[in-house]
Amino acid sequence: MKNNPKVEDNFPWDQTMRNHFTTFPKFLLSSILLISILCIFYTVSFSNSSNKDLNIITAVHDGREEVAVAPPPVPSPKPSPSSKTTLHQIVFGIAASARLWDHRKNYIKLWWKPQMRGVVWLDKGVKTGTDDHLLPQKMISGDTSKFKYNNPKGHRSAIRITRIVSETLRLDLDDVRWFVMGDDDTFFVPDNLVRVLSKYDHNQFYYIGSSSESHLQNINFSYGMAYGGGGFAISYPLAKALAKMQDRCIQRYPGLYGSDDRIHACMAELGVPLTKEPGFHQYDVFGNLLGLLSAHPVAPLVSIHHLDKVEPIFPNMNRVQALTRLNIPINLDSAALMQQSVCYDKTQSWTVSVSWGYTVQIYRGIFSVREMEMPARTFLNWYKRADYTGFAFNTRPVTRHVCQKPFVYYLSKASYNKVMNQTVSEHVQHQVSNPDCKWKMADPSRIERVGVYRKPDPNLWDKPPRRNCCRVLPTKKKGTMVIDVGVCGDDEVIELR
Ligand SMILES: *[C@@H]1O[C@H](CO)[C@@H](O)[C@H](O)[C@H]1NC(C)=O
Ligand SMILES: *[C@@H]1O[C@H](CO)[C@@H](O)[C@H](O)[C@H]1NC(C)=O
Repeated sequence: MKNNPKVEDNFPWDQTMRNHFTTFPKFLLSSILLISILCIFYTVSFSNSSNKDLNIITAVHDGREEVAVAPPPVPSPKPSPSSKTTLHQIVFGIAASARLWDHRKNYIKLWWKPQMRGVVWLDKGVKTGTDDHLLPQKMISGDTSKFKYNNPKGHRSAIRITRIVSETLRLDLDDVRWFVMGDDDTFFVPDNLVRVLSKYDHNQFYYIGSSSESHLQNINFSYGMAYGGGGFAISYPLAKALAKMQDRCIQRYPGLYGSDDRIHACMAELGVPLTKEPGFHQYDVFGNLLGLLSAHPVAPLVSIHHLDKVEPIFPNMNRVQALTRLNIPINLDSAALMQQSVCYDKTQSWTVSVSWGYTVQIYRGIFSVREMEMPARTFLNWYKRADYTGFAFNTRPVTRHVCQKPFVYYLSKASYNKVMNQTVSEHVQHQVSNPDCKWKMADPSRIERVGVYRKPDPNLWDKPPRRNCCRVLPTKKKGTMVIDVGVCGDDEVIELR
């Protein structure tokens, strides 16, 4: 058996120190001692004097006087530029069901990145897949059979789903600023989610999301409710407050329909109103999102929901392929995604509307910006009608006149030019039969391709919202239009002179 090494042998540092001490001259040792005593003396007297400065707050409750000593001011962890919210500090809670998992997981894979944190909450177990490493971890929601549910139209899974916030909080992850809820058919743009949330102080109570596009849905539910599929964010302290009361709160509303209206009911009890962010999209619509996505509000696009209800956002491909294409501009310049700019080709008298990373549309004639920034009704409302009174925002009709039909150019590819520090996006004409127009003016059909140049600006949203400007650049290339998009210059206004 080996001898146990002595403790000193393990800590050579100890030994050298001790050796030094024994050789120290006596007077040096005593002066160190003196200094130490002085130090201790000053520390004690300083803390005494600071005690005197403490605020004494006197409050009177029920006739009794209470003396409270105000705690020393805690350095408030307000978000400063140095502590901007990162993706890591956002934890996702995704509502999913075992029945649809094999299909819906393909949507999650499109936006999920391994460095993100979150849980897919399922009603029951699913088989492990070879793609599990491309997805959030899966968990089974807690039992909710003891809760009352009596809405005749809805499904009691709403209770399981509404508790995702609390169940995710109880996982007790560290360094969490926000909990973000979403459905398994929600596509998130994570960097834009970070941009939106970092505007708010995560130490305060915040409930952030958006209402429905459907006026009637908002009447049935509430204009003050964050629709769950569009996704919503709850700050950490608010999630904590919610978790404390949520189960009792749920029992007070057995008649409600879904999970998001139950969250809304509890938020109302907590007194926290919805902070609306127009980039969260519930998309309670059917059909073609073209009109909505080519006239996006001047705000970062955060989410797209109801992926199975709407058509693929790019033509001639399936939904997953279309969103894979959307990832090209997202990876190049997520801040600019779907940002609309309007300009005119003065020589041809055309109006050009760009939705960055998605479409370019050319219209014969001159349309004002206030008209172009209204979404064209390429989609149906939630009740599958084209009724313009059904929306919670302004829309414009799809022009019926043969000459006013826009020519649509969809993004085909895009890349970043490092030398020029700009992105180049190529858009190709969507082949639809554009009927003969008798107007005596230039025909956009001869433009087959549109190139869009833009300097990426990751700090676009650190400034107040402002629409970018676009300019039609001269080109000798046949069948091609070239457009520059970027921050409007001094005195640059979108007008046709
Ligand atoms: C909303 O209200 C309309 C009209 O009253 C009704 O037809 C519809 O079923 C309601 N929807 C929900 C989800 O309650
Ligand atoms: C590119 O331009 C943007 C906007 O002016 C700027 O913020 C960014 O730092 C530039 N990037 C490089 C690599 O020069």
